Amino acid sequence: MYKPLIDRLERQNILTQDEYLLLIENRETIREYAYERAFAVRRKYYGNKVFIRGLIEFSNYCRNNCYYCGIRAGNNNLERFRLTPDEIIDCAKQGYSLGFRTFVLQGGEDAHYTDDDFCFVIENIKKEFPDCAVTLSLGERSSESYKKLRQAGADRYLLRHETCNPDHYKKLHPPAMSYENRLRCLEDLKRLGYQTGAGFMVGSPYQTNADLAGELVFLKKLNPQMIGIGPFLPHKDTPFKDMAAGSSEMTLFLISLIRLTLPQALIPATTALGTADPLGREKGILAGANVLMPNLSPVKTRKKYMLYDNKICTGDEAAACIECLARRIKKTGCEIVTDRGDYQNGIQC
Ligand code: 5AD
Ligand code: FES
Repeated sequence: MYKPLIDRLERQNILTQDEYLLLIENRETIREYAYERAFAVRRKYYGNKVFIRGLIEFSNYCRNNCYYCGIRAGNNNLERFRLTPDEIIDCAKQGYSLGFRTFVLQGGEDAHYTDDDFCFVIENIKKEFPDCAVTLSLGERSSESYKKLRQAGADRYLLRHETCNPDHYKKLHPPAMSYENRLRCLEDLKRLGYQTGAGFMVGSPYQTNADLAGELVFLKKLNPQMIGIGPFLPHKDTPFKDMAAGSSEMTLFLISLIRLTLPQALIPATTALGTADPLGREKGILAGANVLMPNLSPVKTRKKYMLYDNKICTGDEAAACIECLARRIKKTGCEIVTDRGDYQNGIQC
């Protein structure tokens, strides 16, 4: 009964919010088919390729106080760290020799670094490795700052919107943060020519299935090149410590619907998904994801970048993670490649 809906989604890449909701609520009967079609659609544009992005978590200082996040400013039970610009560049150098051609600089919203600091890092990485893409994940900034960073050579920017429902947004964030500013940032990034990434947590507190259906409608309209989703996982030192974790199974189903809605999107099988389910990343690939983001940060700071409890891969060297991932991904019939892995605009394999 729901198969025709999946087939129409594959053909037309869009459904109404009510139709998405119907699928979400009845996913038990249709999910295997959705995974299968999403896997096939991913293959049409990207073949068997799974792209890797070297994640450099450079600072866990953050001015924000998101209720879900382990590195929120209000968490005093956390040793803070920040890498120097040279240390960040060193991480990229190590990553390059391991085969990475995309570096993702991710940190809390840490005012210690100026625009010039970031420009210095970006310019140096791009100068030394012109064949690499630099992705930023630095949170909300001014339009001018986004512009400077783009001019310095940044190619992509990840900024999850976290929820497309403004009322829900207020339940996840303190009053100092606003949904409007989040969207302003995403619009700026698109306008400035960044390949832009959005996304949300699955099963975050107070989220409803109707909200999730709304996410698919929202993403279709925003049309970002990258979409990162992962289950919400509680962190012991946050206001949401006693909230239930999001479901990895729901995350997988949504990955498949996102693939069918935005067939060419770059969609990671996230670390949160791998934390919620030991086979989560492999299953994510089988449900239509095509990106993995192993950690390149120095092992000594890894454990301090805990957005949620029990995060995987916090003790492993990047080289070990790549080997591990390569082995895991091979079992899905896909293969990790070292291409920059840009968005495929209309090109089919
Ligand atoms: N559980 C799952 N994901 C989280 N993030 C932050 N805190 C958590 C958590 N407790 C996600 C947010 C953020 C990204 C970097 O990590 O969606 O945008
Ligand atoms: Fe890090 Fe498996 S991917 S240890």
